[in-house]
Amino acid sequence: MTVVEPFGLSVRDQALEADVQAGLAAVEEGLLEATKSEVPFIQEAAQHLLRAGGKRFRPLLVMLAAQFGDPHAPGVVPSAVVVELTHLATLYHDDVMDEADVRRGVPSANARWGNSIAVLTGDFLFARASHILADLGPEAVRVQAEAFERLVTGQILETAGPRDGRDPIEHYLDVLGGKTGSLVAVSGRFGAMMSGADETVVDVLTQYGERLGIAFQLADDVLDISSDSHESGKTPGTDLREGVPTMPVLRLRERAARLGAAEDVELCELLDGDLSDDERHAEVLARLRVHPALDQARQDTVRYAEEARATLAPLPDCEAKGALVQLCDAVVHRAG
Ligand code: IPE
Ligand code: IPE
Ligand code: MG
Ligand code: MG
Repeated sequence: MTVVEPFGLSVRDQALEADVQAGLAAVEEGLLEATKSEVPFIQEAAQHLLRAGGKRFRPLLVMLAAQFGDPHAPGVVPSAVVVELTHLATLYHDDVMDEADVRRGVPSANARWGNSIAVLTGDFLFARASHILADLGPEAVRVQAEAFERLVTGQILETAGPRDGRDPIEHYLDVLGGKTGSLVAVSGRFGAMMSGADETVVDVLTQYGERLGIAFQLADDVLDISSDSHESGKTPGTDLREGVPTMPVLRLRERAARLGAAEDVELCELLDGDLSDDERHAEVLARLRVHPALDQARQDTVRYAEEARATLAPLPDCEAKGALVQLCDAVVHRAG
């Protein structure tokens, strides 16, 4: 029994394991190639986060989805490179938005070179992704354009917050579908589509990716509170500090409004205060770590992971399907 890192997938089938490993290695080469520039500084900035690490969750999903057709079809690896480059670019931009100073265990691009370079490097990566996409045909371009629009809409709606009267949790789930579900859905879709899998399989893996992506982001929200920076490569509580709402905080606020318990109301007040104050930030983080709202957010993760798993039902039983089921468990496991 072999294991595909970093999600600890145990794959019994050696052909599947070999395909996935070879695919991911080719994606790595493609990413390095796509981030080269004649201008040394651009290459340094573009490869800064690329070389710093990352789980390559989306390329892994492309490779597993490609198992439902010909996994060696020529579009599979480039489509995974497109998805990961797009993701990478959004990290450069997101760290500017969230004023994050650490990413993948290294200083964020904005911390190192300032916002302008971080934003422009993100744009450079989008340009390179578009270049590769052009060779994958108009349908792929359309799919990616639609997902990218949803991703950006999600980021904007997160920043704007819910319209008056809208339930904040419903709003937030829409945000997650946009900012994260969209690109994870494209990963499933591209893998299936590029491998020449049936239309039904393409649809199933798109739906699966959408839900898995939401579960993945919910797990990330929990980790932002529960983990330390060694585990995540990010500064815990970055979103809290910036006042960016995440599911544990929304669950806390909902609970405080519903039950009115004094300690919950007090914690909400602390959250509304100035969290640039390190002591206050540490106290809020410590209280949230043991709060039932964090468990509720874990339950939200489980719910979406289970939905993702349920979408797989129409697929034929095979090793790749088993790995996709395991991926749902792995995402839940990350949330603790
Ligand atoms: C970070 O994505 C942003 C989210 C959507 C949660 P990843 O957790 O996939 O980040 P890397 O690529 O492993 O750094
Ligand atoms: C990451 O979002 C960017 C996108 C999903 C587009 P977050 O701000 O929630 O993720 P981290 O915690 O910085 O990785
Ligand atoms: Mg963000
Ligand atoms: Mg962020």
